[in-house]
Amino acid sequence: MADEIGVLEAIYTARGLRRFKPDPIPDEILARIMEAATRAPNATNLQRWRFLVIKDPEVRKAVAGYYKKAAERLLPQVERIFLDETRHMVPMEQAKRKQLFDNTIDGFNHFDVPPVLILACTYPEPPRWEGNEDVLSPFIIERMKAMLPRANAASIYHAVQNLTLAARNFGIATCMTNLHTLYEPEIKQLLGIPGEVLTWALLPLGYPYPDKFGPIRRKPISEVVFLNHWGDPWPLEPESYYKK
Ligand SMILES: Cc1cc2nc3c(=O)[nH]c(=O)nc-3n(C[C@H](O)[C@H](O)[C@H](O)COP(=O)(O)O)c2cc1C
Repeated sequence: MADEIGVLEAIYTARGLRRFKPDPIPDEILARIMEAATRAPNATNLQRWRFLVIKDPEVRKAVAGYYKKAAERLLPQVERIFLDETRHMVPMEQAKRKQLFDNTIDGFNHFDVPPVLILACTYPEPPRWEGNEDVLSPFIIERMKAMLPRANAASIYHAVQNLTLAARNFGIATCMTNLHTLYEPEIKQLLGIPGEVLTWALLPLGYPYPDKFGPIRRKPISEVVFLNHWGDPWPLEPESYYKK
């Protein structure tokens, strides 16, 4: 079980892969991946995350069915996002956009193939102002209430990214997805998930096929990174890691 690749290589090559071999993932590797996921930062280290690792083929099939159903319902809108030239919602060349669309649809149709599905969940963040009204101002309590949904999301996505990078280290692919949330009540009932628990991401895990890990394509940092004030461009574009 060698740790073979560096952190930057993992970051730069762990693109979202949606097709997998059905080959099983050894439990020792899965355990390492899950441990890496749960080493992530989280609010006040309460570790309110829970991860459901779904290996049972029948259960996987049922969950994949909901994912596919959600995808089918969204298909007209997804087609517009990717393929409607008049909208240009996905800013990339037409051929690449078409490829991403095809991969996404392919993923919808093969969601039950990977040997593992992982559902990343959290117990909701507690309303931390309760019982502390004597030491917190009404202004701050209002702001805390407004921030609560963000606090919930903030404590799971670090773990999902850790999971993605640890999987990449072991040659295992995944793709962050959240379409399942359209059928969250049904999926929670199917899996016995308590009512208050929030589900955030459904991650297929498996050995990639036919696609491979490869460079992630993103905008240059000069387009998305500012210096000191909003809109003032960051001046230095680094030598791209994968030009080496
Ligand atoms: C919040 C979030 C939700 C996503 N949901 C889905 C999804 O439901 N299905 C899917 O195929 N990809 C999903 N993705 C993956 C994105 O489509 C993918 O990260 C993006 O197209 C960039 O591709 P790359 O990571 O391979 O470079 C999601 C990503 C994020 C961050």
